[in-house]
Amino acid sequence: MDSMPSLNMPIDEEEDIEMPLPEGIVHSPLSFEDAQISIVNLSKSYRTDDSETVAIQDFTLDIKKGELISIIGPSGCGKTTVLRMIAGLMPPTSGKILIDGRECTGPGPDRGMVFQDFALFPWRSVIQNVEFSLEVAGVPKEERRQRAERYLDAVGLLEFKDHRIHELSGGMKQRVGIARALVNKPDVVLMDEPFGALDAQTRNIMQVELLKVLAKTDQTIIFVTHSVDEAVFLSDRIVILTKRPAKIKEALEIQWPHPRDRASADFTYLRKRILKQLEKENVLD
Ligand SMILES: Nc1ncnc2c1ncn2[C@@H]1O[C@H](COP(=O)(O)OP(=O)(O)O)[C@@H](O)[C@H]1O
Ligand SMILES: [Mg+2]
Repeated sequence: MDSMPSLNMPIDEEEDIEMPLPEGIVHSPLSFEDAQISIVNLSKSYRTDDSETVAIQDFTLDIKKGELISIIGPSGCGKTTVLRMIAGLMPPTSGKILIDGRECTGPGPDRGMVFQDFALFPWRSVIQNVEFSLEVAGVPKEERRQRAERYLDAVGLLEFKDHRIHELSGGMKQRVGIARALVNKPDVVLMDEPFGALDAQTRNIMQVELLKVLAKTDQTIIFVTHSVDEAVFLSDRIVILTKRPAKIKEALEIQWPHPRDRASADFTYLRKRILKQLEKENVLD
């Protein structure tokens, strides 16, 4: 990006100096042989009576089985649009999405979604919310109950299983949302800013809890966030998007083990590097 040198800018903060990648961070290819999900030349335009918004254009990305990949980008760049198309909730304008080699044409039990605003059923109890997808799948009552209880236990909510949704805090509601998405053991879990409505402390706790629950599975997680801190803490890979229409600016593989120390020099440095990339995208058209 061209930027005019500012007269007020101290010499040592010159914009154009590339920040090299720290140890354990490498550039990741966007396409490879053994992909579980292939997003190929995906485009999406929203048409209204008098205008057209190109949300996604020629977006290509492969995703590996079992990875936690974060998609991060400026507000309105098309993150939710990509996720909803992978969920099969909306068809692309052109291009395609392949899941295990089959073209995605609608929703299915192989994919579960966790929403930012929880999207729980207020008229159902906690456990009835978690049992919902099992009911739809026709799992018998007793087995349904046992599986739902196991996941409620995993997210620390077993003792609240008969509570109503309005009796829960935001963090508890989101735990129900996560248990509900995972209980059906989908191969792929799509998370759209799932912790966005939570306070900072609850958010950090939820990130640790999520990694604990996922450590026992080989589920693929596609995690949309606008928090760089969250993406660096959680991800095997981070994909940084440009402003709309979203293109991939950079894809980074994070090889650091868990748990990651948010206060470490490398963590802070990587966060700063990604933030700098994103700041360049927030310029006005
Ligand atoms: N249903 C819709 N109809 C028209 N425009 C939409 C619709 N959904 C999203 N958009 C537009 O598409 C762009 C991308 O939206 P979205 O995918 O929600 O972005 P993000 O999740 O990255 O914030 C935005 O400009 C938004 O206004
Ligand atoms: Mg969104």
